[in-house]
Amino acid sequence: NSMLLWQRTAFHFQPQKNWMNGQPCPTYYKGWYHLFYQYNPDSAVWGNITWGHAVSRDLVHWLYLPLAVVPDRWYDANGVWTGSATTLPDGRLVMIYTGATMESVQVQNLAFPADPDDPLLVHWVKSEYNPVIVPPSGIGLKDFRDPTTAWYVPTDSAWRVAIGSKNDSQHHAGVVLVYRTTDFVSYELLPGVLHSVTGTGMWECVDFYPVSTESAVGLDTSAASGPGVKHVLKASMDDNKHDYYAIGTYAAASNSWVPADPEKDVGIGLRYDYGKYYASKTFYDPVKERRVLWGWIGETDSERTDLRKGWASLQTVPRTVLFDQKTGRNLLQWPVEEVESLRLSSQEFSNISITAGSVVPLDIGKATQLDIVAEFSVDEAALAGAIGADVGYNCSTSRGAAQRGVIGPFGLLVLADEDLSEQTAVYFYVARATDGSLSTHFCHDELRHARIFLFLSSEANDLAKTVYGSLVPVHDGETLSVRILVDHSIVESFAQGGRTCITSRVYPTKAIFSRARLFLLNNATGVDVTATSVKIWQMNSAFIRPFYERDSAS
Ligand code: FRU
Repeated sequence: NSMLLWQRTAFHFQPQKNWMNGQPCPTYYKGWYHLFYQYNPDSAVWGNITWGHAVSRDLVHWLYLPLAVVPDRWYDANGVWTGSATTLPDGRLVMIYTGATMESVQVQNLAFPADPDDPLLVHWVKSEYNPVIVPPSGIGLKDFRDPTTAWYVPTDSAWRVAIGSKNDSQHHAGVVLVYRTTDFVSYELLPGVLHSVTGTGMWECVDFYPVSTESAVGLDTSAASGPGVKHVLKASMDDNKHDYYAIGTYAAASNSWVPADPEKDVGIGLRYDYGKYYASKTFYDPVKERRVLWGWIGETDSERTDLRKGWASLQTVPRTVLFDQKTGRNLLQWPVEEVESLRLSSQEFSNISITAGSVVPLDIGKATQLDIVAEFSVDEAALAGAIGADVGYNCSTSRGAAQRGVIGPFGLLVLADEDLSEQTAVYFYVARATDGSLSTHFCHDELRHARIFLFLSSEANDLAKTVYGSLVPVHDGETLSVRILVDHSIVESFAQGGRTCITSRVYPTKAIFSRARLFLLNNATGVDVTATSVKIWQMNSAFIRPFYERDSAS
């Protein structure tokens, strides 16, 4: 099949065809969730960036609408790039987006719904004042993009908008500039920068939002810092294409944000996702009082393959984001609860013992659309004897699931074929220092997934990079747990309730249709592992389709 249709996903958002870019622009308006996305209407590679648009009642079942904003003015002729939505207290919606001008200068523009009474927000108008912000002096004309959702600062009676950039004269620092506005038409650059980290380069797709440190609810973007509230600063590193965040304290009066742990600053510390993941953005959902994160998942096959299949990239499932009250140091990400509405039949396995060096098939029928929740426990006596095991282990420099250690790897093999020639391993790997302390790594190994490199053999070097992962905090008394969403060509995993997440983009050629299988794995040499509980749901399709029938006919 020339479109490689079996690789299209069933419940992840992707356009019908062509290229989708990051960063998404999600929002909520009058009963509908909206997703505006960077889209090339003409081809499966980047270019002609335009705003695609889809709506949903539940963040899962999406309906495509016509293009929302197209590059038709001098100030966005080279692309209607990333923008953000701000909901004003009276319910009006304001969009600020980056336009790449005729000369490819990055400027910020304003757009409004043409008819605020239309909950679908089908038509958009651009402000006559555009561009409303141009690059300030000292900032590169092409290093000034992706305005955030605005937040209101009552003590200043004004809104603020952040924009990412870089400062090469200051050791290649990534920086965040903040503008003040009362009407969204005229803007004043605030002195100083919100934050800056040397050596990290251009910060794209900045996101800045409050999180509650005391309760499991999301906060509106304008919620003030103070007791029980911290602020997350996230940026997408143009240099290495990863999304980094840090949790810290925001002081509106001094226009500054300080990370709680300077060693884990933005760009050098925590990542939202340790797999293929970039250009993400959150929005506040006023209906369910939660903050929801979207991430853009590009392809890891070749451009040529993308052109052949006619489509490229998708979005993660929307994830709820909360502060991890238990560790106090990281966020928790979890698929929005509506994803569970896609769960069909389920099967449950308990207390399956996986002896060291074995693989156990789980007989579940087809295994291409799954929601899996698994818990593991490691034999205590063996663990006690494993002093000094595998200290210094690192997922990405390891040889993946084939590298046997004393207390790992163990976990699951998804999108695997019967004889395991194709598989994505999702696993834990535990190291035990001489002082007895344990550190738990959570990894994905895609080495057993051939990438499709039509005639481009040089790219085969990429294969060496396909073990992803990081440490995952595990508290005393916690069992090791993972949730995995499997959807044909994407695997999204959430370890320990979403402390560490990994997304893999894989291209099965054998583990497809009814030939895809699921296995438990324990490749440790020194410990037996028990899968204390494995619950697996078959997942329905979300039937993402055009809103209007006439669109599908055209
Ligand atoms: C992120 C990005 C943004 C920009 C957009 C253009 O991948 O480079 O910074 O606004 O893509 O499509």
